[in-house]
This record gives sequence, C-alpha cells and structure tokens, in this order.
Amino acid sequence: MNLGILHTGIRGDEKLIIQACENANINYELIDVRKKILDPLVKEEFEKYDIFLERCISSVKGNAFIEFLSNLNIPVVNNKQVMNICNDKFQTATVLSKHGIPVVESTLVFNEKAAKKAVKGLGGYPVVIKSRTGSWGRLITKVNDEEALEGIIDHKSYMGPEHSAIVIQQYIDKPGRDIRAFVIGGNCVAAIYRSSEHWITNTARGGEATNCTVTADIQAICQSTSNAIGGGLLALDLFETDEGLIVNEVNHTMEFKNSEKPTGVSISEEIIEYCINFVNKNNGK
Ligand SMILES: Nc1ncnc2c1ncn2[C@@H]1O[C@H](COP(=O)(O)OP(=O)(O)O)[C@@H](O)[C@H]1O
Ligand SMILES: [Mg+2]
Repeated sequence: MNLGILHTGIRGDEKLIIQACENANINYELIDVRKKILDPLVKEEFEKYDIFLERCISSVKGNAFIEFLSNLNIPVVNNKQVMNICNDKFQTATVLSKHGIPVVESTLVFNEKAAKKAVKGLGGYPVVIKSRTGSWGRLITKVNDEEALEGIIDHKSYMGPEHSAIVIQQYIDKPGRDIRAFVIGGNCVAAIYRSSEHWITNTARGGEATNCTVTADIQAICQSTSNAIGGGLLALDLFETDEGLIVNEVNHTMEFKNSEKPTGVSISEEIIEYCINFVNKNNGK
C-alpha cells in the first residue's frame, strides 16, 4: 500500500493523518503539489501510488490535482465527481434537491432584477448571499432588506467575473449552533455542534466545538447525502429546524483537527482505514 498525501502545507489535520499512517504501518509520502508539474505525458511518477489523499489548503491547486488524476484513472479521494459537486454550493443544493434530500432552499441569479424576484420566491427577507465556492465563513452576508440587497449586488458587479453568479438562500433561524458531521464512506463517524453568538458558526470564525451524539436522523441524512454525491470523505453542515435536519453544504476536504478531542473519535484513523479498504477493494482483496 503506497499512499500519496497531496498537500500545500502541513496543518494540525495533516499531522494527525501522518500519525494515523504510522499507526496503521502503511507506506505514505507527503507530496507538496506546489513543487509538481502536471503533464499527462509524464504520468509514471503518479502511477506508482495505489491511492492519493487530497489534503490541500488551496482548493485551486487541490482541485486541479484531483481533476488531473481522475482524468488519468489514477485513484484519488475525493474523486472528480465529488469534488465538482461539493466545490459549488449551488450545485450541491441542486443535486441534493434532485434526490429529495432536505437542503437549504438556494437560487442562483445573475443580476439585481432576478435577485429581487428570487428573494420573493424564497419567502422574503432575511436571505443569505454567499459565494458559490467560499469557505471558513467568508463572503457570506445576511441581507435584511432590499436596500442592502442592491448594495451587495452592486459591490459584486465590481468584484470580477466569478462574482456575477450569485447564490441567494433562505435564512434559516438556527438555535445558536449548527452541526458538522464527518462522513466516511457513507457512515457518519462523528459530529460536533458549532455554537456561536454570531449567526455564522464556523470554528474558523470563533464557533465553539462540542460533541454531538450521532442520532439515527443524523446518520440517515448523512448516508443519503453521501449516496447522492458519490461517497468518499465528506464533512456536512447540517441545520436543525422544526421540520427536522436540513443540509447547508458539503465539504470535500474536511478539516477535523479540533473535532477529535470533543468527539473522542480518531477521524484521521477513520480516513486512513477508508483509504486502505479502497485499495484492497481495487486490488480485489
Ligand atoms: N442560509 C443560512 N441560514 C442560516 N445560517 C447560515 C446560512 N448559510 C450559512 N449560514 C451560517 O454560516 C456558516 C458558513 O456558511 P457555509 O455555507 O457553510 O460556508 P463556508 O463554506 O464558509 O463554511 C454556516 O455554518 C452557518 O453557521
Ligand atoms: Mg460550512
């Protein structure tokens, strides 16, 4: 078993993964993608690995590597399909809706007139405007009235072409927290509550992580979401509502370093076990 760990820097998460490789006694190599040349005519250096685990902080670089390897049929987790769906919050909402999975109602619009109409369809203000590809709670705005909506759309029109596609969602009144669920091969192995006084609850924005018991409802929504998206290693954001759990978004390069302690689950070991099983299955073992 030869595991290639793709990275753009070693965070606490990668340190835990390295420890898990040591514990499992497998061969692994750290590959700094910033030093690599991607050339389909020189693919031999990548073919000597049984599987790649994508752990890049930079989504631009990580996603490019996933596409490159997937296109050459070299095993990588997550794969191209999973990455593509998760990388775009609107695509995630569309795919989950198609599969009948409860998800925050989301629209995509391209100008102010359509934005105003979309807000009406979503049931009025407040709404949330977010970037299709953001992370760590950045570029997310709660919009309480039409004047603020006009201002945001005007700002976006000067921010470059990728900001001309605008995601507008229903604002969900959460109980001061949301749930981050870690899903490995369709199984939710652990979950945390992220509590905050602010409506944006990311731990990167100061949200506090505490253990969340994995209930049958959490397990069920995680399994169906994983099936709809294509399996792999997923971190789901779930909201608790009066009607039950709904999915906010799905992340394809999960950060978990602050979650092993409160949950008591070695998420890094679960990840490595998934990679080992993946290779064994591929090799017909
Ligand atoms: N539609 C929404 N209603 C209520 N809260 C939201 C909504 N969208 C996002 N949030 C809050 O903002 C956080 C970050 O949003 P998210 O879409 O997960 O983006 P990121 O990729 O930056 O984590 C969520 O964890 C949640 O606390
Ligand atoms: Mg999130």
